[in-house]
Amino acid sequence: AKQTLLRGRVLTFTAEPQGAEDTSAYEFIEDGALLVADGTILAKGNYGDLAVQAAQAEVIDHRPNILMAGFIDTHLHFPQVQVVASWGSQLLEWLNNYTFPEETRFADASHSAKMAGHFLDLLTSHGTTTAVAYCSVHKASAEAYFNEAAQRNMRMIGGKVLMDRNAPEGLLDTPVSGYDDTKALIAKYHGKGRGLYAVTPRFAITSTPDQMEMAGALVKEHPDCYVQTHLSENHDEIAFTAELYPQARDYLDVYQSYGLLTEKMLLGHSIHLQPREIDALAETKAKPVFCPTSNLFLGSGLFDDAGLRARGITNAIATDIGAGTSYSMLQTLNEGYKVLQLQNQKLHPLRAFHWITRGNAAALGLDDKIGTLEAGTEADIVVLDSRATPAMELRMQRAETLSEELFILQTLGDDRSIAQTYVAGKPMKV
Ligand code: GUN
Ligand code: FE
Repeated sequence: AKQTLLRGRVLTFTAEPQGAEDTSAYEFIEDGALLVADGTILAKGNYGDLAVQAAQAEVIDHRPNILMAGFIDTHLHFPQVQVVASWGSQLLEWLNNYTFPEETRFADASHSAKMAGHFLDLLTSHGTTTAVAYCSVHKASAEAYFNEAAQRNMRMIGGKVLMDRNAPEGLLDTPVSGYDDTKALIAKYHGKGRGLYAVTPRFAITSTPDQMEMAGALVKEHPDCYVQTHLSENHDEIAFTAELYPQARDYLDVYQSYGLLTEKMLLGHSIHLQPREIDALAETKAKPVFCPTSNLFLGSGLFDDAGLRARGITNAIATDIGAGTSYSMLQTLNEGYKVLQLQNQKLHPLRAFHWITRGNAAALGLDDKIGTLEAGTEADIVVLDSRATPAMELRMQRAETLSEELFILQTLGDDRSIAQTYVAGKPMKV
């Protein structure tokens, strides 16, 4: 097979950095290289050593840019590419006025296919190589999503949303049709190529108890699939959920009582939590997902990262497009840093870059496949230019350490800093 040697400043994480300059948590090779063939990283090391070892490999010189594992976005909505930047509302009004009407358009398979293509192109141009996405209620939207992902050989996770009430007619399934469509999609896409399925009850408000029961059956029948939903994002949402599920002890109990709460569950937002809910998250090892740009945009609230971490909970981080306002995981870190600042919590750049790579991979149980640059893992790699803009170039003139450079990247960087993205070893920018 054809071998490629990517030369650059190699940065990969071996563990979560515990503090400001925890050099034991990462490996940084100033004149480093990655040997890639057949979509896999064969070796990581010094350029000089690998150039001798693989003398026949084609060398692509990315110096002085940084080679890092591709970014992982653990929560976003593919049918919302044309919802991003919709003015003026908080969650429920935003769903009813903008998002639900837009998602009805994904009943059309050709519209779904076109938007799925745009969506995946946007992800890779922003350095994201794996994402966990909600499709629309329509089976065709999930087919379009997985088909387009397979065409690009991307490791993508997703699922058709289950929703059978409190939304427009064109956006409702039924407990039985949602179950049947999900079964068919799992059979067709889960574990096929790089695709993985997530059973996706949208949130408590849009599913009847009957549908939650069917979702519980799906989770029981497919324990290797993910489960994703939204939890405690907004006060009006929480109050409406309590009305719809009067017997539930709290919001999370709606999901827990139907058997959805496992360590494979991703819970978007998880902002306004009761002590019992935090206990249940800690016990089950489910994963709250921090969506900073979305939480600020919809005025939802401040995610308590440190509080949850202190309980041993693993938090993921995500864009939540289209309530989120950027496809960039760098910009997501930028806003996340500020959300934590407002609560006197700190996000060190080493931990930040670990979070959007190995950390999110570990939250998905996939850190043996993606999220690092270790030999034997999948060759999803991002090439980061810390001097992509005049503002970054000027600021970089005063940067002395790797941590400073990373902080400049996460604060000032966006898709302009993505010099290249490799998906399974293949460059996405030509
Ligand atoms: N809760 C239920 N659906 C959605 C959605 O599409 N976006 C956000 N941010 N919250 C939700
Ligand atoms: Fe969301």
